[in-house]
Amino acid sequence: MTNSDPQEWSNRGVDLFLNLLPGEHSRGLRVRIEDGLRDAIRGGRLVRGTRLPPTRALARDLGVARRTVVEAYSQLAAEGWIAGRRGSGTVVAFGATPPIDAGSIRERQRVRWRFDLRPGRPDPSSFPRQEWLRAVRQALTNAPDEAFGVGDPAGELALRAELAAYLNRARGLTIGASDLLISTGFTQGLGLVARALATIDRRRRITIEEPSMPHHRDVIREAGHELALVRVDRGGADVEQLEQAGEAAAVVVTPNRQHPTGVALSSGRRARLLEWARATGAYVVEDDYDGEFRYEGRPIGPLQGLDPRHVVYAGTASKTLAPGIRLGWLAMPEPLRAALTREKELADWHTSALEQLAFAELLRSGMYDRHIRKMRLRYRRRRDALLHAIVDADLGVEVMGTAAGLNLLILLPDAETEDRVLAATRAAGVGAAA
Ligand SMILES: Cc1ncc(COP(=O)(O)O)c(C=O)c1O
Repeated sequence: MTNSDPQEWSNRGVDLFLNLLPGEHSRGLRVRIEDGLRDAIRGGRLVRGTRLPPTRALARDLGVARRTVVEAYSQLAAEGWIAGRRGSGTVVAFGATPPIDAGSIRERQRVRWRFDLRPGRPDPSSFPRQEWLRAVRQALTNAPDEAFGVGDPAGELALRAELAAYLNRARGLTIGASDLLISTGFTQGLGLVARALATIDRRRRITIEEPSMPHHRDVIREAGHELALVRVDRGGADVEQLEQAGEAAAVVVTPNRQHPTGVALSSGRRARLLEWARATGAYVVEDDYDGEFRYEGRPIGPLQGLDPRHVVYAGTASKTLAPGIRLGWLAMPEPLRAALTREKELADWHTSALEQLAFAELLRSGMYDRHIRKMRLRYRRRRDALLHAIVDADLGVEVMGTAAGLNLLILLPDAETEDRVLAATRAAGVGAAA
């Protein structure tokens, strides 16, 4: 291509929407271009520093002679609206610089804890940047062109196959690629289950543990279900209470490590929970949000392996990699597969194909396993340091949930003490939650 190639020129620079008012005949095109630009600058749509297209490109876009645009730019430059800058072309020279207007979002991101011990937060500084970069590069290099079109709502086959193999090997599931649906995290997966059940089950009630994440409760309600609660004690969710409560389409549990108490569902209750599901035709949603991080004791197998027809197993990359990645998965019982895939399709067609393929590459190369093993060791050391500090301080408090996971629970005597402790941790730059 040469410098004078019109195609080349039209590809340069930036897009500009110019409202060329259909002026009187006497007002030429040049004046209409000037007026359009003045209006856009005066109205704040084009702020100081905004780059304008090169004259040749704008002339081509507007279908006018280049000379017309050159004259309009010269006039506006003479009036001080715009200015030519060596190296960066023509820019808007008048008006206020745009205020930084991201408001509360920036505020939220700016909170920097010296030690962030808020429940369930992985260490963001440990995100495997180099490994992810390599995986993205590999995925982009190998992806067929079709990967950039709209794909399968249930997810990329390459990822589902790698993930099924990983979950069977490392988490004790027995599934195939077609059992998996790739979501943007547990939160979306839960919403999909709740909405899918609302289309195929007349029962409009879903039970969840108390305590549990308020956000998950909102997701269930938002899908049109009444919320019921099942209390949690040292043996996990109280299944007897579940049996006595009214009918429900599903129960959402964290059997491996109850969130946020950290207790595991006892083996007796695991069996009873599945009996309840079989007897009532309800589903158990097994939230395995941080099952990869067990530091002591024998690993607890998933409920899903015991009854794949009644358990929806839900996993996430939010703890192993980062919550910002937005990747999760559901192992779907056969009877729910069509409804869940349909809900995913309605929600957003599918999860980003590029993220999926990069994650598949991370799994395939063994980097995901290595990262988890590294992080397990790191988190265990942190847990040990925290436990030692608590013992050394001789506070006489009980600590729960220490065998696994990314948080532990300190039982304080009353709400007043809790408030005082939270205020003290905040003042010391330590993130914690009640
Ligand atoms: C109990 C529980 N489940 C699941 C998740 C993960 O949700 P998501 O995959 O949507 O990030 C979290 C994250 O904080 C959690 O605490």
